[in-house]
Amino acid sequence: MKLSTYANPLALLLLASTQQVAGWGQLGHRTVALLAERFLLPETKEFTKHILYGESLANAAVWPDYFAHKPEGRYSKGWHYIDAKDDPPTECGVEFERDCKEEEGCVVAAIVNMTEQLTPPNVPNPPDRSLVLPIRFLLHFIGDIHQPLHTENIDRGGNSIPVTYHGKRFNLHSFWDSVIAEHHIGGRSFQDAVGWANSLYNMISVPTGKFAAIETQTKWKGNCFNDDGLFPDAKKARDCAMEWANDANTFVCSQVFAAYPNPRDIKGEELGGKYYENATMVVEELIARAGWRLGVYLNMVVTGTTGIGKIEKNAPVELPELSLWEKVKEKVVENVSFIPGWAVVAL
Ligand SMILES: *[C@@H]1O[C@H](CO)[C@@H](O)[C@H](O)[C@H]1NC(C)=O
Ligand SMILES: *[C@@H]1O[C@H](CO)[C@@H](O)[C@H](O)[C@H]1NC(C)=O
Ligand SMILES: *[C@@H]1O[C@H](CO)[C@@H](O)[C@H](O)[C@H]1NC(C)=O
Ligand SMILES: [Zn+2]
Repeated sequence: MKLSTYANPLALLLLASTQQVAGWGQLGHRTVALLAERFLLPETKEFTKHILYGESLANAAVWPDYFAHKPEGRYSKGWHYIDAKDDPPTECGVEFERDCKEEEGCVVAAIVNMTEQLTPPNVPNPPDRSLVLPIRFLLHFIGDIHQPLHTENIDRGGNSIPVTYHGKRFNLHSFWDSVIAEHHIGGRSFQDAVGWANSLYNMISVPTGKFAAIETQTKWKGNCFNDDGLFPDAKKARDCAMEWANDANTFVCSQVFAAYPNPRDIKGEELGGKYYENATMVVEELIARAGWRLGVYLNMVVTGTTGIGKIEKNAPVELPELSLWEKVKEKVVENVSFIPGWAVVAL
């Protein structure tokens, strides 16, 4: 990255604060967590509030991307994705034995790990601060596992594939992580996430909503939420995570590289127009799906039941109280448009 391009203090501050934010990006991860909140049972809400000691779910969900770039968090880098060695666009699919790395681990194994730490008999009584890492990780990873390029090996999940959008340069991974969502919503502030989460909630819960159809919800439930009534054990957690990874991975073939029989031919392509329009529909559904699944899964982790059918009356989420520093950051984030994604190695 040519730093000279950003030689202005505000932009440098922004770089310092956003360069490390990846995955769905701050907007996506916050939206997923805020949406999940609307599906939580009272007991689940109480539990998460207690172990997060006042930190909002939305901020907790963003934290693992910062952590992964710190020396002490490096061990968790490989937990944000699973590198499927499939063959898009003709053949897609994630296989645990083939694709989850022995040493670094993967997002599926991480979800299993966090689930185990958050379920009996491993939860201390009363639950305490020792659960803050597992809950932050779980909030984040259920978001990441819904991003198609977090389930794909090719060119480091698209991180090494340069593309353009309206003439600006990004890599394909960050295009899918954040550019699509931020353009669709028209911003990336905390308030944008709150607004998007509430609007997705309506699309899911109002009977005429875009995602309210019984077929849609049956698909979202999959096998994971079919046998209501059990705390997820390691096997259950892995089956759920594998199902979600495979769901996301199908879009690697059907959308990400669909128009490119040789996937590397997407290199240098301008993705505005039809590609962006199609991708926007996919991202919106994946964020909605991730938020709903996260909420329902947390219910299962905390109470042993999904709460489906009992969780329709939660009030709209609101912007949490922000510290002065957070307010400053929000102002900056709100008003500087895009950072080209070249140097941003997204997790
Ligand atoms: C599970 O996560 C904890 C940190 O939360 C880590 O110390 C431990 O090594 C992980 N276990 C496995 C098997 O990855
Ligand atoms: C967009 O989606 C339509 C309908 O699924 C498809 O026919 C078209 O090829 C897609 N275009 C691109 C560029 O992916
Ligand atoms: C940021 O953008 C908003 C909306 O465009 C505008 O109202 C506000 O004055 C801007 N703030 C700064 C500090 O430039
Ligand atoms: Zn991530």
